[in-house]
Amino acid sequence: MKIFVTRKIPGDSLEKLKTGGNEVVISDVDRPLTGEELVEKVKGVDGLLCLLTDRIDGDLMDAAGPQLKIISNYAVGFDNIDVKAATDRQIPVCNTPSDEVNEAVAEHTWALILALARRIVEADESIRRTGYKGWEPSVFLGNNLVGKTLGIVGLGRIGGMVARRAKGYNMTVLYNKHEPDPEVEKELGLQFAILDDLLAKSDFVSLHVPLTDKTRHMMNRETLAKMKKGAYLVNTARGPVVEEGALVEALRSGQLAGAGLDVFDNEPNISPELITMQNCVLTPHIASATYEARNKMGEMAVSAILDTFSDKKPQNLVNEEVWPARRK
Ligand code: DGY
Repeated sequence: MKIFVTRKIPGDSLEKLKTGGNEVVISDVDRPLTGEELVEKVKGVDGLLCLLTDRIDGDLMDAAGPQLKIISNYAVGFDNIDVKAATDRQIPVCNTPSDEVNEAVAEHTWALILALARRIVEADESIRRTGYKGWEPSVFLGNNLVGKTLGIVGLGRIGGMVARRAKGYNMTVLYNKHEPDPEVEKELGLQFAILDDLLAKSDFVSLHVPLTDKTRHMMNRETLAKMKKGAYLVNTARGPVVEEGALVEALRSGQLAGAGLDVFDNEPNISPELITMQNCVLTPHIASATYEARNKMGEMAVSAILDTFSDKKPQNLVNEEVWPARRK
């Protein structure tokens, strides 16, 4: 079987792809491939291991050819893939959710919350820029977390892990998802809130929804205006969940005190205003960038391809329904 990997990934999991004599081609450029380059590279492949920076649509699937049997995304999110197009063509699509990734993203979410509350990045920058001149009573005042309210939008696996960690800070935790989850409420001591209430009451709002037609720009001028004045917004989910222009306005006007962003509306572009704002902590989509998480993602992405080739249903099939009638 022929497999194309759109970019080198960390760890040694790709070695395993050669099991059984598979021919493995790994893109030799250290950047995302352009659409045209991808079309060329996928021709004739049986398996495709792609990244969230690759746009995989029906045309690309057709360019690969009718022998394409599996698309394995090296990411939890799969909004870069037209899953419906894959399903129409009976091509299984897999992703890489795991405890390792969820923990990494939950920990990064907390890194952003703490950095915002205690102005860590600003303070570090100030030392590097002007040196430390001694203790002062009123520089870099921040906020205690104890007693504050954290609002979690989207209580899936990652949202749940973020909530669990909030207990350690003695915060009140509100959550919103399509329906209340009494078991999780009991286990973690959370309270369900409709979105408007969650936004109005939370000192920190953290987003953990996938990117769908429904969640695209769910944080917009209107919803940002519903947030408690002086609250913080944290996004480690997907950039387009927040309308970046509206966020810039909310930060500029003081409606929000700050934002912690790991993802951006139009990656890799970032609104220039955000970069100049001291009250924003920005990281380049690295929430899952731990050795543990990335190794696990590699292992899972590779297993999905090998399992499919040996007719074993992969663990993380996104479009389950194709399996019985999948392409062979
Ligand atoms: C994911 O897996 O979806 C993250 O955004 C990157 O690892």
